[in-house]
Amino acid sequence: MLNPIVTSEFANARQRLIVRPATDRIALVGRVRIPGDKSISHRALMLGALAEGETTIEGLLLGEDPRSTAACFRALGAEISELNTERVTVRGIGIGNLKEPANLLDAGNSGTTLRLMLGILASHPNRFFTITGDDSLRSRPMGRVVKPLSIMGAQIWGRRDNTLAPLAVNGQVLKPIHYRSPIASAQVKSCILLAGLATEGATTVTEPALSRDHSERMLRAFGAEVIVDPETISATVMGPAKLTGQAVIVPGDISSAAFWLVAAAIVPGSDLTIENVGINPTRTGILDVLLQMGANITLENERDAAGEPVADLRVRYGPLQGCEIGGAIIPRLVDEIPILAVAAAVAQGKTIIRDAEELRVKESDRLAVMAAALQKMGAQVTEQSDGMEITGPATLQGAEVDSHTDHRIAMSLAIAALVAQGETVIDRAEAAAISYPDFVPTLERLTASPI
Ligand code: S3P
Repeated sequence: MLNPIVTSEFANARQRLIVRPATDRIALVGRVRIPGDKSISHRALMLGALAEGETTIEGLLLGEDPRSTAACFRALGAEISELNTERVTVRGIGIGNLKEPANLLDAGNSGTTLRLMLGILASHPNRFFTITGDDSLRSRPMGRVVKPLSIMGAQIWGRRDNTLAPLAVNGQVLKPIHYRSPIASAQVKSCILLAGLATEGATTVTEPALSRDHSERMLRAFGAEVIVDPETISATVMGPAKLTGQAVIVPGDISSAAFWLVAAAIVPGSDLTIENVGINPTRTGILDVLLQMGANITLENERDAAGEPVADLRVRYGPLQGCEIGGAIIPRLVDEIPILAVAAAVAQGKTIIRDAEELRVKESDRLAVMAAALQKMGAQVTEQSDGMEITGPATLQGAEVDSHTDHRIAMSLAIAALVAQGETVIDRAEAAAISYPDFVPTLERLTASPI
């Protein structure tokens, strides 16, 4: 009997994922369900905690990042039921009513937890909070939210001139601002809007390009007055606001679907339907780019789930061509660039990714880590200060590579390994559980039956 395509070894909570080539042996066929959207899961827990009354959440992502958010908001006084995908209930305590926790809040690996929570905490007068995170999060820039919050009157202290966690927050009554953000970041935008909830007047954020708008949609659904101006790319929240508990349905995460979209597009013979994928236009840059590269993707069963558009995505194998990616599309696919780099490595011709310097301050430096791993696997990749230039098609070779404990790197390299020659070992693959706890079992299932 042939070796299975996917096996793994655990030692000291560290997973080495071993992936053997799938080409010629299997194709990815059938249907796959992906976990709930990470961004929407965080926001549902946070707004549920700030609302009055009960919020129910269906389809919550059970990854480590939303678990960090739930743990923080429990420590802040919200009652959150045991986490599961069927139905989580949050008994909110109302804006301004969070209690002062007796200990450090721990955001783990999650930038969204830390940055969004800062806006909420900074606007809670007469309370003192301390927040930390893991090694990766403690090295990520927090000045981008500390600065605008400070203009609103927040008191926040931290290492390196108040830009690195651990951070200490002395909650204040804030002033509204109109903040012109130098970066298109939903975490920055959401942090300021959340601070605006408790702040008298209009708090506005203008972005250089539109980032994901889940906060604006969900704040409205919970009863806040949110004004969006697409012309100026700005969002305003009117404070003080009152939120009322809602029934939230979390769609599948297109950022998790992205791994199967690319896998099925590059493994010959594949025909895979990914069910229940959120297709909010601020997140669908990956579809635009894959279609431009010639991928065979169709949207089926388009519908609405509690204010977010959803569809099933059918993807069939077909040759890909290189393309150029830059400008306003970047925030619409910012988390998908590692897996797009895999598609580009095996596509015909040159792919140029630019304006993506934000990748350097994600869970790892995703430009450096992805370029190095793909080079090790034999791809022609040149790292640029703000992106990558990739010339394909490469015949990838199995290699020993490392996730750098970055979930999206771990999963992207596992997909690259499916089309490599020989065995690939991905070290620290346990990182996938941050956003996709079932990634490895799903990969095992999809690669289990030979054609
Ligand atoms: C997120 C925003 C993005 C994204 C992250 C989730 C969010 O970060 O990369 O995975 O939920 O708001 P930035 O705002 O830093 O671009």
